Amino acid sequence: MTSDTPAGSATRKGTGSAIPDAPAGSTASAASEPARGERPVSGLRSGGGEPSGEPGEATREGTGSAIPDAPAGIIAIDGPAGSGKSTVARTVADRLDLAYLDTGAMYRAVAFAALRRGIDPGDAEPVARLAARVEMSVEAGLVMVDGVDASIEIRGPEVTGAVSAVAANPAVRAELVARQRRWAVERGGGVVEGRDIGTVVFPAASVKVYLTASHEERSARRAREAGDLSYDSVASDIARRDRADSTRSADPLQAAADAVVVDTTGRSIEDVVAEVLQHVAEALGPRRGIGENAG
Ligand code: DC
Repeated sequence: MTSDTPAGSATRKGTGSAIPDAPAGSTASAASEPARGERPVSGLRSGGGEPSGEPGEATREGTGSAIPDAPAGIIAIDGPAGSGKSTVARTVADRLDLAYLDTGAMYRAVAFAALRRGIDPGDAEPVARLAARVEMSVEAGLVMVDGVDASIEIRGPEVTGAVSAVAANPAVRAELVARQRRWAVERGGGVVEGRDIGTVVFPAASVKVYLTASHEERSARRAREAGDLSYDSVASDIARRDRADSTRSADPLQAAADAVVVDTTGRSIEDVVAEVLQHVAEALGPRRGIGENAG
C-alpha cells in the first residue's frame, strides 16, 4: 500500500532541494485576506472569525476559543505516519463525492513558510505569528503557501525534519484547528485526516476511524514511497515522529475513545477502504450524502 502522498505529488525523489527563499519584501504580514465576498475554492483562511451560523453547527470548547464545531457530516481519519490514512481518506472522499482535507499538509505548510523566511521552527512566538497570517490552500494534492506551489517541498526532508516542532506549538494548533473547522463549515462536512481530528478538531464527527499498522510495515511503505532513502533511516525517522506526535502536550496523537481502530498491516487499500465505507454506511446510511438528513 502506498500512503500519505497526495495525488499529484507521487514521488519524493528530488525533493531534497533547499526551501526557496521568500521573495524580497515578502513577510508574514504581507499575506492578505481574500477580498470581501470572494471565497477561495479551498480557502483555509486565517483569522478568528465568528461562527457562520450554518444549520447543525455547534460550538464546542477545544483547542482555541469557542469556534464552530463540525457541521452535520465529518468523517475523521486519524493515525500515525505510514498507516495509510491519506490514501484511504482520499479514496473514501472520492467514492462518496466529498471534500477531503489533509491537515498534515497544513502543519507542513507552516513549517515550509517558516523555513522560507529563515524563522527557526522551534521558535514558538514568531512561528505562531506566522501561522496566524500565512495564506494557504490545500486541494487535491496541490498545496499553495503564500501564492507559491509548495506541494513538493512540503514532503521533502527539510520540512519533514521541522514539522514536529511546528505541530507541537499550541498557538499554531489553535490557529490551524480554527481553519480546519471553518473549512468544514464552508463545505457542510467532508473527510478530514490527521492526528487529532476525532479527539480535538471534530469530537462530534459522524464517523471516526483510527488507522494503524506495525512500525515495520509503516516504515517499509514510506521507504518505498521515498525511493531514495534506506529502510533504516525511514524507520528511525518514523519512530522519532511517532514519539514526538504521541508525547507532545498539545493534542497528542491518540485514538478517540469512540473511534473504530483499523489495523492496516498486510491489508490492501481496497480492503481498508471497503471497511471504512462500511462504517460510514452504518453511521449515516448506505450511500447517504453528507449533509443530507441522516435520520
Ligand atoms: O500526516 P503528516 O506526516 O503529513 O503530518 C505532518 C506533521 O503534522 C506530523 O508531525 C504530525 C503533525 N500533524 C498534527 O500534529 N496534527 C494533525 N492533525 C496532522 C498532522
